[in-house]
Amino acid sequence: MKKRIAVLASGRGSNFQAMIDAIQACQIPADCVALITDNPKAYAIERAEKAGIPRIVIDYTSFPSREVYERALLSAMQEVNADLFVLAGYMRILGTSIVRAFPGKMVNIHPALLPSFTGLHAQRQAVEYGVKIAGCTVHFVDESLDGGPIILQGIVPVLDDDDEDSLANRILVQEHICFPEAVRLFCEDRLTIVGRKVIIR
Ligand code: GRF
Repeated sequence: MKKRIAVLASGRGSNFQAMIDAIQACQIPADCVALITDNPKAYAIERAEKAGIPRIVIDYTSFPSREVYERALLSAMQEVNADLFVLAGYMRILGTSIVRAFPGKMVNIHPALLPSFTGLHAQRQAVEYGVKIAGCTVHFVDESLDGGPIILQGIVPVLDDDDEDSLANRILVQEHICFPEAVRLFCEDRLTIVGRKVIIR
């Protein structure tokens, strides 16, 4: 049976687009039931519109506090009733109340080979550190920062003349492959979390 997935994105939404394309190509047995964004100017909103996906804008700046914002976000997420929440460039850290509400039902993509280079500007961190290999990681979301069980990773070389942007572009190509693939595995019920490990059947 098809799963219901909802995507959370804050910006240009190229990973969201990769997900839409994979669903339309019948590579993922799922329906995308909502785009949820904290940013009314996100280009992801236009992508959703084109694909006929309902948009839910929960503008962070219109709330008096983070707590009130998170309550609104939580109830929107409960209402869409998704089997999986896909964080595709969602630029706000989700509070514990949200993470705890959807255990094993939320995945994120991070543009680094975790556990290296967590947090913001991961590609810049990789260039500055001087690593020779970089990449992306799709992982389940838990209460740690970029620390949940890893589903898939994609790797790219780091070249001597790379800067943050050139490396980010190379990693992005891998993101667009790994993320839909990880979501496909989830939707086919092929992922089991065992402690820190994700077993793929
Ligand atoms: C990606 O690099 C992703 O890894 C990170 O944020 C970026 C989002 O890009 N979490 P896009 O909005 O999907 O184009």
